Amino acid sequence: MIRAAMFDTKPYDRESFDKTKPEDLEITYFDTKLDPRTVELAKGFDTVIVFVNDELSKEVIDKLYEYGVKLIALRCAGFNNVDVKAAYEKIHVVRVPAYSPEAVAEHAMAMLLTSVRRIHKAYNRTREFNFSINGLVGFNLHGKTVGVVGMGKIGKAFAKICLGFGMKVIAYDKFPSEIPGVEFMSQEDVLKNSDIISLHCPLTDDNHHLINKASIEKMKKGVVIVNTSRGGLIDAEDLLEGIKSRQVGAACLDVYEEESDLFFDDRSGHILADDILARLLSMPNVILTSHQAFLTREALEAIAEVTFNNIRGFFAGDDVLANEVCYKCEKVAECKRSRQKRCF
Ligand code: NAI
Repeated sequence: MIRAAMFDTKPYDRESFDKTKPEDLEITYFDTKLDPRTVELAKGFDTVIVFVNDELSKEVIDKLYEYGVKLIALRCAGFNNVDVKAAYEKIHVVRVPAYSPEAVAEHAMAMLLTSVRRIHKAYNRTREFNFSINGLVGFNLHGKTVGVVGMGKIGKAFAKICLGFGMKVIAYDKFPSEIPGVEFMSQEDVLKNSDIISLHCPLTDDNHHLINKASIEKMKKGVVIVNTSRGGLIDAEDLLEGIKSRQVGAACLDVYEEESDLFFDDRSGHILADDILARLLSMPNVILTSHQAFLTREALEAIAEVTFNNIRGFFAGDDVLANEVCYKCEKVAECKRSRQKRCF
């Protein structure tokens, strides 16, 4: 029997994991996040199943290693919350690289449409029988230029939707490819020439705060910024200033740099200590969802299935773990996986 401890578990996670759980896997569900204060809960388990805001720092990884945990199974795509260097040669790390790129891309478009057609305002008005449409003037997406940063699985799905809307799609990717209807250019040119910018790249050391005071100043006035990727891609304070100065026309955020202590929990009875977030939320042209772009039935089922396969493959001793990640992943020459081996 493989013993797994699943952290930051929500009712919808439990439902999808219980539905397809293999018989030789026993899961203990914890509501709490994994961090230095809670890591002791992982004692006696073979693997931990973790999500975006669990903290897999060196301190936590060293403790997991000491407790004999052999595998960190991320039930998400991004792994910026894992110190992969600290895990190297100690604990293997696997992830779910794609569960439903369309789920995230559709959410990005849902937020964009909500914002530019003022649906969030109209919804509140009509609920109070206010049928005035003054102040709700939007703009057509048709004919606008959307700049996609990160043309991977989600970026491509989003670009496809945008092309369907009759938009011009320009893109920056570290590794540009040929995609019909999409024009690749430098990141600077994408940011400069877009009416709408949508972020779909992972958060890495080299793109932290790629949306900042300097880059916002070079954007088109009234630009709409959509971020369903990772909060750290945007300097929230600079975004707020950009909104106050009207340089930024609107922001649609599914992620926020300081989200880990806030998102996924009901904090409605609490005083919000984060002044930047509070001010952003007070803006009529900022829409925030709490990291829910992935949250569809289809995606949850796929997450459970791929996580189970990852765990099964690891404990069955498979030579290559298809979804393993390590800090050498981006260095092609050093990649063992491409040579049909585990990362270590
Ligand atoms: P992917 O790996 O298929 O695509 C990422 C693309 O970004 C690749 O084409 C890569 O070459 C490119 N890239 C890497 N570094 C870059 C950089 N510095 N600048 C520009 N492009 C760069 O990943 P996928 O599945 O499309 O996911 C993208 C991101 O979306 C994830 O890293 C994650 O942070 C976020 N995400 C958010 C979710 C949500 O619920 N809000 C759910 C799933 C993913």
